[in-house]
Amino acid sequence: MSENAVSAGEGAKRDLPPDLVIDFDFMRPGPEGSDPLIEISRLIGRPPVVWTPRYGGHWVVTDGRIIPEVLGDYERFSSREVFIGMPPGRPRAVPLEYDPPQHTEFRKLLQPAFTPQAIKRWAEEARVLAVELTEEIAPKGRCEFVADFAKHVPMIIILRMLDLPLEHRETLIYWVSTGIRSVDQQERASVRDKLNAYIEDIVDRRTANPGDDVLSKAIHTDMENGRKVTRDEAIGLASSLIGGGLDTVATTMTWMAWYLAQNPKQRKTLVDEPQRIPLATAEFLRRFGVSNITRIVAKDMEFYGAPLKAGDAILMPSAVRGLDARVFDDPLTVNFDRRNAHDHTTLSHGPHRCIGIVLAQQELRLFLEEWLARIPDFELVDGDPPVMAPGIVPSIDRLMLQWQA
Ligand code: HEM
Repeated sequence: MSENAVSAGEGAKRDLPPDLVIDFDFMRPGPEGSDPLIEISRLIGRPPVVWTPRYGGHWVVTDGRIIPEVLGDYERFSSREVFIGMPPGRPRAVPLEYDPPQHTEFRKLLQPAFTPQAIKRWAEEARVLAVELTEEIAPKGRCEFVADFAKHVPMIIILRMLDLPLEHRETLIYWVSTGIRSVDQQERASVRDKLNAYIEDIVDRRTANPGDDVLSKAIHTDMENGRKVTRDEAIGLASSLIGGGLDTVATTMTWMAWYLAQNPKQRKTLVDEPQRIPLATAEFLRRFGVSNITRIVAKDMEFYGAPLKAGDAILMPSAVRGLDARVFDDPLTVNFDRRNAHDHTTLSHGPHRCIGIVLAQQELRLFLEEWLARIPDFELVDGDPPVMAPGIVPSIDRLMLQWQA
């Protein structure tokens, strides 16, 4: 599917029936500039689980119906490494890259910060910021949505949750986006080193001088087994929060804005009937499934015709589930009345289902509410098309919008 060569390595070779082998590079699923989610959806309809030699070789689920089965079964599919193609030496993400029962212990440390009650405070701050930003942008009649709006809301929330200075936001946005998005392995490794050093420093400071923030609380709380998290585990926790909560929200918001800019009828529906925004948000998360999550096969087994071996990685792009017509009727259409819109796996499924789900939904909803209240009509700018980019989080990196000011 992709023509860009990535060194395959010895482990990439497998003696498999030809129909189980494809050349699929999830970091470059199609020609440059093409819609990465649509390119990923071209996997659908192949044998349910296929092998690609990319990144040392890994399996890919191509049947949206079986993704929840993999995500829900940690005994057969471990979370010990959930990203393919990451540079070696990064801290293990906590709780993301642990299986129950250890995962459960770590997750409990974060849970109090993510209850609907706890999130209320952050969502209120996010709303104030969304209003401020939209009021600043509206009179200009034009903006680059990603840099001017989308990245600010989730970044400020994370900085507040971790009690970090707001002036760090541009640097962190750059590190996280490049770490997730760059196809240049060296560049990714270099920004990851900087981000890791930054995170290590926060962990050391919060260990010595605890504050009222989510990380301090996690570091200084006893787990059920009577011990506290180690320094490495605390680093992994902070990495999950910073990495998990930034790019994903900003990217989803940008796909939503891109879609609404081109669909005035649906825009008007949300302006006239804002009570439909919660279900619309679920439907956008379904249609724009930005997660590319992996599991590691725990034991040799035959799985939907694929001979999996212990230690193999298996990738489950959420776009494969969201855009599979066997799961969702007419999947490319955004339908605010879709009954099973919530059945996507963009926020995962099973024990690792996104802990930031309430916060993410709130941020996306309040974007729709506050933006549409002030800028109800907007469109793409002719001659300045959106820049789409594949990656671990397939995104739109630049989105020029215009409207009558
Ligand atoms: C649209 C926005 C978001 C998307 C698409 C998203 C996606 C995901 C996915 C797919 C997982 C599970 C990965 C797996 O199963 O291996 C996950 C877990 C997680 N997310 Fe999110 N996320 C979003 C927003 C957030 C936010 C706002 C935060 C926090 C501020 C956050 C923090 C986390 C954490 C800490 C985990 C680990 C949970 C665990 O392992 O138990 N996410 N997210």
